[in-house]
Formats: sequence, structure tokens, C-alpha cells
Amino acid sequence: MEPVNIGILGLGTVGCGTVNVLSRNAKEITRRAGREIRIVQAAARSPDKKRECATEQIALTGNPEEVVNNPDVEVVVELIGGYEPARQLVLQAIANRKHVVTANKALIAVHGNEIFQAAQDKGVMVAFEAAVAGGIPIIKAIREGLAGNHIEWLAGIINGTGNFILTEMRDKGREFEDVLAEAQRLGYAEADPTFDVEGIDAAHKLTILAAIAFGIPLQFDKAYVEGITHITRADVMYAEELGYRIKHLGISRRNGNGVELRVHPTLIPERRLIANVDGVMNAVLVKGDAVGPTLYYGAGAGAEPTASAVVADIVDVVRTLTTDPNNRVPHLAFQPDALADIGILPMEQVTTSYYLRMQAQDRPGVLADVTRILGDVGISIEALLQKEPAEGETVVPIIMLTHRVVEKNMNAAIAAIESLDVIEGRITRIRLEHLNRDWD
Ligand code: NDP
Ligand code: HSE
Repeated sequence: MEPVNIGILGLGTVGCGTVNVLSRNAKEITRRAGREIRIVQAAARSPDKKRECATEQIALTGNPEEVVNNPDVEVVVELIGGYEPARQLVLQAIANRKHVVTANKALIAVHGNEIFQAAQDKGVMVAFEAAVAGGIPIIKAIREGLAGNHIEWLAGIINGTGNFILTEMRDKGREFEDVLAEAQRLGYAEADPTFDVEGIDAAHKLTILAAIAFGIPLQFDKAYVEGITHITRADVMYAEELGYRIKHLGISRRNGNGVELRVHPTLIPERRLIANVDGVMNAVLVKGDAVGPTLYYGAGAGAEPTASAVVADIVDVVRTLTTDPNNRVPHLAFQPDALADIGILPMEQVTTSYYLRMQAQDRPGVLADVTRILGDVGISIEALLQKEPAEGETVVPIIMLTHRVVEKNMNAAIAAIESLDVIEGRITRIRLEHLNRDWD
């Protein structure tokens, strides 16, 4: 059989990882795909730059349009990242009836509905396994492996950079900026690392997971997004004292009123497996009605772990090149005309438990004032820590864990507590989830 010719856009961390894996494992990959996979052309901003991969056999160009318009290229692998020019290039490749593989979660989360419609019209595949959780085959697991289930919820550590930062801060007491710089050196971080630390990257990935889990359109603009920049070492330590770990989670859950789509730091009981997922590793918990809870774990970023997912997609595309486009696995797991119109819940309507940390004057009656305000809106306290004031200080940290309450009521309570004369500054609020089988 003739080899399948592919063109790669981008020869950075993931692009070079893909070239290396395709070359090193060429024989095994050909045995799996049924045809040899040959990289005929690749584009990079500076094609003459020294690379982490061998490019002697590949025609290099500084113009990515040459690749998407190259008549010899059957599959375009987009590893540039970002919204533009990636969107235009992918749409041009599709218009030219080329299949597309991409690791670009920003592109899929924000422009995926348009891209999949175009791909369907042209009968081509757009594969995006590497877009979520790096090397973990989570898209395939949910879209195919769990196809018999009514999926109830999923929760995941889906940003390697953020998890690496939180782990290093907790284990080694390192400074935030210092760990972020290391994540950038290691090739984990996005081109704009605020996407990692402000939760945008995780929200892109969560948007994709929710779409394939619940059969809903991609709705990144409705996601609630909170990053890790306000997490202090003190919060990490207090959480541990109470038996919890702070992880940056993406959570999507279907309940009677809609779908929750939220990314934020979360306290989780330290005995949960997912609480012990450290460093650049990712993990996604998915609860299906038939299978129960399932957990998927692996490297969430880095050259070869991500290349592992890119190459798996290339193999998948090659295997199905000759199949009827109407009989392929749908891009978003459900048939395009069967996507559900279930609304995304505003964060104010989400119910969760909370960790609260406040600085209070060391005077009698303060705790009574705070608990009265919480009680007035139906919030009950599960645990409480009050620390001694530091030498010469008159304020003390008070840490509380609450039972579940709708976010709107918690917002009202926090505003009322912050307005008390005896409370100094803002209250730190971190959501808490037990991640039980039945989400209670
Ligand atoms: P890099 O920044 O390392 O690489 C980007 C590549 O794209 C570079 O080779 C760059 O060229 C090239 N490029 C940028 N703009 C253009 C352009 N206009 N025309 C042609 N080439 C261009 O990014 P990564 O490899 O880290 O990420 C690639 C994608 O993979 C992103 O979507 C990212 O989100 C995703 N991803 C990354 C992971 C990781 O661990 N890094 C994990 C999972 C997904 P040059 O080298 O000459 O500057
Ligand atoms: N910047 C991303 C992360 C890359 O750290 O998870 C993998 O998607």
C-alpha cells in the first residue's frame, strides 16, 4: 500500500515530539495503521531554526499555507496553537478535503462548532485527542469506551502546569513564579502562561470534555473560570491540617436544572486517589450510571506524552480513511443532529461546600457574629480552625469548612461578613468537593 502523506504545522515542543515518535516507532505504527505514515512537509515560523527533532527528510517552509494547500498532503497536523492563524489554516485544510489532527484545545473549545460543521460538510475527520489531558486517551475513553453510559459528572486535574505549581509549592515551599518559569522551560506551559494559571486552558479542555460527555455543543463562553494565582501556601497548609488537598479542578456535572461547567481550585479529601495526583500528571474522574466512577491518569503535558496522543489520532485517521464519512465516530461523540439543548448553569446556581479563611479581631463575640450570618442564609459549619495570634498581632486567622450551599447564598454571607468591623480585608473562599460516587 502507498504511504499516507502528512503535513505538520508547528515544530515546537509537540511538533518535534510527534516527529520523533513517528520516526522511532515507525515499524510498530505502520503495523497498526496498515500503511506507512510519511511526513512530507512541515511549517514553522523560523524554518531554519535548530530543532529537537531530525527534519532532514522533511520539506520545511515558513509558510503554513503551503502545507494546507499541498496536493500531496492527505492529513494536516496542526501544532501551532492559539486561535489564529490556526483556525484559518484548519478551515483551509478542510476546504481542501484534508483530514486534520490537532492538539489545540483553545481552537476546538472556541471554534470547534464551526470546524466540525465544515468537516462534516466535506466528509473529513478532525481528531483532537491531544487537546485534553496530554497523553491520557480521555477523549477516546469517553466518546467510545463509555458510549453505553448516561454520564453523570466528571472532574479532572487537566492543566499540568497548574498542578506542577501547586505540588512544588506544597512539597518544597517554592515560590509560584519560580515554578512557573520551570514549567515554561520544560515546555509544559502555553505560549501565554496566563492561560495555565488563570484557568483558561483548563476551561478549554473542560468545555471539550463536557460536550463529548453530555452531547451538548461546545460552550466555552459559559464556563466559570478561576485560576490558582490567589492560592497561598497558608491555604495549602490549613487544608492539609483539615485532611484535604487543594487541586485545580475542572468540574462538569449534569443535574436537573442544567450542566455545571466550572474550573476553580478545589479542596478534596486527601484519601481520594485524585488528591494524590502530583506534578505535571493529570487525572480525570468520570462517573457513568452503568460503569460507576472511572479514573484516567497520565502525563498531562510534555513533548512525547502529547505526541503519543497526536500519533494515536493520526493512526485512527489513517485506519478510517476509506470508511463512509457517515459511519465514523462523530466528532462530539453524539450524532451532530442529536446534540442536546441543555443550558449551562450560572455559577450562582451551583451548590457546593466551601473553605473560608478570614482575618478576625481577637475579641469575644466575633465567631458568634460570623456564625449568625452564615446561619441566617442556611449555611452550616462542618469544621473550624482558629489560630493563635502571631506575636504582637491582634488579628487571628479563622478557617471554616461549610456544608453544601447554593453559591448565591454564600456570596451574600461573604459580603455580610466582610462588612463586619471585626473582620479585616477580604475572605478567601475555596470550593470543596467530596467527589463521592453519588456527589453528596
Ligand atoms: P510551541 O510554542 O513549542 O510550538 C509552536 C510551533 O508553531 C513552533 O514551531 C512555531 O515556530 C510554530 N508557529 C507559530 N506560529 C506559526 C505560524 N504563524 N506559522 C508557522 N508556524 C508557526 O507550542 P507547543 O508545541 O507547546 O504547543 C502546540 C500546541 O499543542 C498548542 O495548541 C498547545 O496548546 C498544544 N499542547 C501542548 C502541550 C505541551 O505540553 N506543550 C500539551 C498538549 C497540547 P518556531 O518554532 O519557528 O517559532
Ligand atoms: N499548558 C498545558 C498544561 C499543556 O500545562 O496542561 C497541555 O495541554
